[in-house]
Amino acid sequence: MTTTTAEPIRSQVVQDYSPGIAHTGGEPIRVRAVNGWYGSFQALYDLSMDMPAKKVTALIGPSGCGKSTFLRWINRMNDQIDSARAEGTIEIAGSNILAPKTDVVELRRHVGMVFQKPNPFPKSIYDNVAFGPRLHYKLSKSDTDGIVERSLRGASLWDEVKDRLNQSAIGLSGGQQQRLCIARALAVDPTTLLMDEPCSALDPKSTAAIEELIAELRENYTIIIVTHNMQQAARVSDATAFMFQGELIEYGATEQIFTAPREKQTEDYIHGRFG
Ligand SMILES: Nc1ncnc2c1ncn2[C@@H]1O[C@H](COP(=O)(O)OP(=O)(O)OP(=O)(O)O)[C@@H](O)[C@H]1O
Ligand SMILES: [Mg+2]
Repeated sequence: MTTTTAEPIRSQVVQDYSPGIAHTGGEPIRVRAVNGWYGSFQALYDLSMDMPAKKVTALIGPSGCGKSTFLRWINRMNDQIDSARAEGTIEIAGSNILAPKTDVVELRRHVGMVFQKPNPFPKSIYDNVAFGPRLHYKLSKSDTDGIVERSLRGASLWDEVKDRLNQSAIGLSGGQQQRLCIARALAVDPTTLLMDEPCSALDPKSTAAIEELIAELRENYTIIIVTHNMQQAARVSDATAFMFQGELIEYGATEQIFTAPREKQTEDYIHGRFG
C-alpha cells in the first residue's frame, strides 16, 4: 500500500465555499507508468495515458483485466486494501496523487466515485446529499439547502424527490438511488467523477436516464466510466481505453476504437469474441 498518514476527516473545513458559483470543473488526468499490485500479484502493467478534461473516457476490457483497480487508484480508494500498492504517477491539477503526502480526503472531494451498486446511506435523501458538504465546509442551513437542491438538480432527481427530501433514501428505486449517489458525489463540487459500471444494476429506463445525465455532466466534469456494455461505451464516451490482463492495449477516440481498432485484441473484444 502507498503509505499515507490517516487524515482526520474534519481536517478540510474550508470557509470560502460559495454555493451557486459555477465551478470551472474538469481537470485532465495524466497517467504515467502506473504499475499496481495486490501483494505479489501484479494487476496493472505500465499504464500511461492522458484523459482529457470535460470529456468522458470509457474503460473497457474483460472481467479481471484491472479496470476497477485502475479506477480505484485515481482517487486512492485502494488505500483501503492493505495489500494494494502502486508505482508511477497519476497527475491531477499538477499533483501526483499517488504521492504519499496526498491528502486523500481532499483528493476524494475533487475526484468523486459512483459504484456499481447504488449505496445510499440509511439516512434521509437530504442528509445523503448534505453529508459530504457538511464534512468539508462550514455551512448555514440555507447554504446547505442550496447545495442539496443544486446537486439533486444536477443529477436530474430534484423533481422526483423535492417533496420527500426528509424520507429515507432506501425507499427510492434503484435508478433513483443511483442518481442520488451521483448527487451526493456532485455535492462536494468535484472536478472529476469515476463511475464503476454505474448502470449494471439498473433497468433499461434508469440506464437511459443515467446515460443522459452523463451527457449533461460531461460539460463540467472529467468523467471516467467502466462499462461492460459496448453500446453504452460507444454512446456515452469520447475516448475509450481497452485493457487486457492489466495492460492498456489500445486507447483512442471512441469512434476510432469502435470502427477501426488498430489492435486485433481490441477488435475481437468489441465484437464479443472473448471476455
Ligand atoms: N482486493 C483484492 N485483492 C487481491 N486481488 C484483487 C483484489 N481486487 C482485485 N484483485 C485482482 O486484480 C485483478 C484485477 O481486478 P479488477 O477488479 O480490477 O478487474 P475488473 O477489470 O474491474 O473486472 P470486472 O470487470 O470483473 O469488474 C483480478 O485478477 C482480481 O482478481
Ligand atoms: Mg470491476
